[in-house]
Amino acid sequence: MARARVIAIANQKGGVGKTTTAINLSASLATAEKRTLLIDFDPQANATSGLGFDTNTCEHNNIYHVIIGEIPIHEAIRKSELAYLDLVPAGSDLVGAEPELVNEMAREVRLKDAVAPLLDRYDFIIIDCAPSLGILTINALVAAHTFLVPLQCEYFALEGISKFYKTVDLIKRRLNPQLEEEGVLLTMFDKRNRLSFEIANEVKGYFKGKVFTAVIPRNVKLSEAPSHGKPAILYDINSSGAISYLNLTREVIDNVNRSEA
Ligand SMILES: Nc1ncnc2c1ncn2[C@@H]1O[C@H](COP(=O)(O)OP(=O)(O)OP(=O)(O)O)[C@@H](O)[C@H]1O
Ligand SMILES: [Mg+2]
Repeated sequence: MARARVIAIANQKGGVGKTTTAINLSASLATAEKRTLLIDFDPQANATSGLGFDTNTCEHNNIYHVIIGEIPIHEAIRKSELAYLDLVPAGSDLVGAEPELVNEMAREVRLKDAVAPLLDRYDFIIIDCAPSLGILTINALVAAHTFLVPLQCEYFALEGISKFYKTVDLIKRRLNPQLEEEGVLLTMFDKRNRLSFEIANEVKGYFKGKVFTAVIPRNVKLSEAPSHGKPAILYDINSSGAISYLNLTREVIDNVNRSEA
C-alpha cells in the first residue's frame, strides 16, 4: 500500500493563508478520494474551528495530548463531514507544549513519531503550522516529507522568507535530510491591483520553477467559509476560491505521481 505524503503548510509570517490552504487543500484531496488527515498544529486552532469543530469539546484529546505523550494519535482523530477527510484538532493548550518540550529528550521528533503509525492509513497528511519558527514548526518540518509555503501577494511578501529557508536548511542538515519543497503558493491575489502582478512576478523570479501555477485569488467565499465550519468546496463549489484550490490539488497530486514514477 502507498504511504502517506506528509506536507507541512508553513511560513512564520502570520495571516498569509496557511490555514485556508491547509483546510481547502485537505478537503479537495478528500474530494478526489485521497484518504487525508489534517493535523491542526497551531494553538490558535483555526483549522479545527474552520472545519466546524468546537475546540472546547477537544479539550482532553487533541494534538497537545499526543505531543506530550499522554495519548496515542488515533485517540485524537475526528471524522469530518467529508468521507475521506479526518482531523486531529488543536486547542489553546498547545501553547504549553513549547516550554514543556524544551528539556525533553528527542523533542524535535515528537510529531514524526506520533504520525508514524498512520502512514499506511492515509494518502496525505497535511499539517497546519503556527506563525513561528519554534519547536512546533520544527516538529512539523521534521515529520514532513515536503513543505508548502503560502505567500500573500502584498508588499513585504518575501520579508523574513530567507530566515524560513535557513531553518529548513538546518533541519535538512541535522534532522530530516529527505525534506523536499512541495512548492510556493501565491495567495490573496487581487487581479484589480497592479501590485499583485508585481509581487507575483517578483516571487516567480526569486523561486524560479518552485511556484505553483495555481494562484489563489482574494475571494470573500474563502474568508466566509470557516465561520460556517466548512471548506470552500462545500460552502460554494463554484467560487473562484474553491476552484483555485482544486487546481492546486491537481498540481500536488501530479507532484506525487512524478516522485513515484
Ligand atoms: N484567498 C483569500 N481570500 C480572502 N480571504 C482570505 C484568503 N486567504 C485567507 N483569507 C483570510 O485571511 C485571514 C488569514 O488567513 P489564514 O488564517 O489562512 O492565514 P494563516 O497564515 O493561517 O494565519 P496565522 O499565521 O494567524 O495562522 C483569514 O481571515 C482568512 O479567512
Ligand atoms: Mg493559521
